[in-house]
Amino acid sequence: MAFDLVFFGGTGDLTWRKLMPALFQAFRHGKLPEGGRILAVARDDMPDERYRDWLKERFQEVEGAKRPSDEEFERFAALVHYRRMDLSQPEHYTRLKEWLGERSAETVVFYLATSPHLFTQICEQLGAAGLNGPHIRVVLEKPLGHDLASAQHINRVVRSVFTESQAFRIDHYLGKPSVQNLMALRFGNALFEPLWNRQAIANIQITLAESLGVGTRGPFYDSTGALRDMIQNHALQLLTMIAMEPPSTNDADAIRDEKLKVLRSLKPFTRESVARDVVRGQYRAGSVDGKSVVGYLDEAKIPANSPCETFVALRTEVQNWRWAGVPFYLRTGKRLAARDAQIVVNFRPVPHPIFPGANQPNRLVIKLQPEDGLELQLLAAKGNSHGESLAPVSLDLDFDKAFGSARVGAYERLLLDAIAGKLNLFVRSDEQEQAWRWVEPVLDAWSADSMGPRAYNAGSWGPAAASALVARDGFSWAEEQ
Ligand code: BG6
Repeated sequence: MAFDLVFFGGTGDLTWRKLMPALFQAFRHGKLPEGGRILAVARDDMPDERYRDWLKERFQEVEGAKRPSDEEFERFAALVHYRRMDLSQPEHYTRLKEWLGERSAETVVFYLATSPHLFTQICEQLGAAGLNGPHIRVVLEKPLGHDLASAQHINRVVRSVFTESQAFRIDHYLGKPSVQNLMALRFGNALFEPLWNRQAIANIQITLAESLGVGTRGPFYDSTGALRDMIQNHALQLLTMIAMEPPSTNDADAIRDEKLKVLRSLKPFTRESVARDVVRGQYRAGSVDGKSVVGYLDEAKIPANSPCETFVALRTEVQNWRWAGVPFYLRTGKRLAARDAQIVVNFRPVPHPIFPGANQPNRLVIKLQPEDGLELQLLAAKGNSHGESLAPVSLDLDFDKAFGSARVGAYERLLLDAIAGKLNLFVRSDEQEQAWRWVEPVLDAWSADSMGPRAYNAGSWGPAAASALVARDGFSWAEEQ
């Protein structure tokens, strides 16, 4: 299937760091369809050769085994082209159209890896140039909007040019093998489904912890914050996959319909519940992995007294028959004790304990990163005192070991799916807008509250109030047990 893939923002960080390396891996694995052309467009003027040289330099920075050999790079680079484009100039889109028209690719994918404020302009110009036929797809990188109104505006413009099935909204978490495995765990196995409800489950905890700080992204991050950066998209997407009803098929819309229902069932926030159920924090100086690090306010280009949150923990509920009353705790933060993304499903204790002192309920830990695995915690008899003394044991599965290099990285998966037109792992506009609708009262309450975020030490698990949030229900975060 001949395809043309166009990267707007062709000299940007995302293209260098994620998209080109992912395409190269797809190429190396023999998964990139034959006859493809890759076109990077950006403001600078340079010939293809210069762009390829840059790309080669960048690929030298790629870690060990993923780095191409010279021979591999030459073969890959032959697919890569570069054109200068001023995105505000209609005639530059006409030139793009001519380039695409040199041959008729079966599929054309426009990947908007630019600053999001250019999304509407690019889509409008593509539409005006007639670059929106049914064989064309548009991929939109997050962040898609800053709030509900801006997301709706972007979606309106996108829909005025493309149909919903031509729009591929990225949440790169959906491309991670470990996240796709959630679907397999729930809907490829009969084992857990009878237990997947309020009768058996006491609470669910979703943690997306990072040990990194904001790095060089200060200005972007400061106008975004953890709620918009991680909760509105990645954490909510994970929650929908954990809480959704079984879809009737594995088709994109069957899945997205069910995810939307979960988002619509989330308990809405009020001013009072934001104060009670949401904790925001900001890191101050501390130590991560044995190294001293500065606090958020001392990071490059962060305004003094910025109220930007680098940590959020919240409690919510999915208000339907399956989940009524079960707390879902979501937590994310920068400069936390470890890079650790996991979902912990805490089961209820046995109804009538007969073993003294053995009251640790079962727990399923779905590990998303850095390891990709599953851990089921059980109690077993140690066998030394008539079976009365029970000890925790765990069944551990390591998917990286089990499937090894056959696993495909997140951007590689998503790029291949966009080329193939598979929408399963992309976010539909109504899902995305509903997620904004749900977080917006939190943003409103914060902007009206002069208290600001609570300080936490870099290298910790966030403010003490985050522990209190869970302790109030009689539970604790997994690392506190
Ligand atoms: C991005 C956020 O969407 O996800 C970043 O903008 C964050 O702030 C990143 O660091 C985390 O992604 P991953 O794949 O490293 O967990």
